[in-house]
Amino acid sequence: MGVRTTALRATAALGVAVLLASCGSGGNEGGEQPSGALEGRGEVTFATGKDTSGNMQKLVDEWNAKHADEQVRIIELPESADAQRQQMVQNAQVKSDAYTILNLDVVWTAEFAANRWVVELPKDQFELDKFLEPAVKTAQYRDKLYAAPVFSDGGLLYYRKDLLDAAGVQPPKTWADLIAACQTVKAAQPAIGCYAGQFEKYEGLTVNFDEAVHSAGGDVVDATGKPVVNTPEAKAGLDALVAGFKDGVIPQKAITYKEEEGRRAFQAGELVFHRQWPYQWNLAGKTDGSSQVAGKFDVAPLPGIKGAGSSTLGGHNFAISAFGKNKATALDFIKFYIGEAAQRSNLLATSQAPTLASLYDDAELIKQFPYLPTLKESILSAKPRPQAVRYGDVTQAIQEAAYAALTGEKTSDVALKELQAKLEELIN
Ligand code: GLC
Repeated sequence: MGVRTTALRATAALGVAVLLASCGSGGNEGGEQPSGALEGRGEVTFATGKDTSGNMQKLVDEWNAKHADEQVRIIELPESADAQRQQMVQNAQVKSDAYTILNLDVVWTAEFAANRWVVELPKDQFELDKFLEPAVKTAQYRDKLYAAPVFSDGGLLYYRKDLLDAAGVQPPKTWADLIAACQTVKAAQPAIGCYAGQFEKYEGLTVNFDEAVHSAGGDVVDATGKPVVNTPEAKAGLDALVAGFKDGVIPQKAITYKEEEGRRAFQAGELVFHRQWPYQWNLAGKTDGSSQVAGKFDVAPLPGIKGAGSSTLGGHNFAISAFGKNKATALDFIKFYIGEAAQRSNLLATSQAPTLASLYDDAELIKQFPYLPTLKESILSAKPRPQAVRYGDVTQAIQEAAYAALTGEKTSDVALKELQAKLEELIN
């Protein structure tokens, strides 16, 4: 099929309003004011965090092979979520057109939408009822759609099935079970670490802190968004992690772990339990020598203090920069990326959580990814992080409080009291 025909067909699918606007190419070229209209076709850039799977480039290549006049070029940002956000914010503040499509963490929607750094997307062009509801919610701000849910994320407890089986213990349901199970395993393997999550001072720490609080029956903010973090429940959650570091349940070096450092430790056989996102499933299961634990692990829901724990909702949405050129192309690329074929290929290649609900009930996929039902449950019951226009300041406050408690610089009482005051200032 000719390139031009493909482009015309794609354009036709966009509806009359966009058709009218997309006659010329180059969009807002030369114009100072950002244009909210999804117009302009041609080359676009796609700013995204470091792709640890390699599949993103594959999907982009697939698109490029069919769109000679609408090429997409990846601009790779750092691995840490905070560093990605910082670069995107800086670009938006100077109204740069360097980035067209933005791979936004689910927690940035409010900030980017309220500042008009991203444009509203036409809800009626996305079949939103086919997507997992929590993921769709993260793409909206004040009931308007500002991004498309590309992949979701739910925390899972990866555990060494071989070691638990040998010790005759079941996967833990509570934090106390986890500690007990690890002690039994350690009788035969004294050098192994029990548990790690993401405890470096960055977005991952906010995720893990929120999870600890929620898994102990507390909340960071209530249903209306009001901060409620200075409670005995929140303290019980934070204290579990503080004690974990103090008692050696969590190895000291885990204070430097982001996702990738922890993954490497789990894959090297250094941990019995690891709190991690689904992307680790494929990588830790590789039989090319890069993982020592292939075939030896499984996943379970996160443990809580008194019963089951609950995950922090993660994931990524694609949005269109208000300052980017060729927004009509950007919109089509996003539609391609969230379509069923791309999501299926992405799951197969990366084991990342899809946002299309039907893929979780697909027997073939469940055969290959037996954790899909656990993951769906993790996502459906996951708790969002605070939704705030000043999210950058909110997460920094959470990270500072949690880090100070974990490193023993402050007691958890003081850290939570100060955090409550800070959040009250930032969220209203
Ligand atoms: C994953 C999640 C994202 C989270 C980040 C923290 O990328 O999808 O929501 O903020 O990890 O490191």
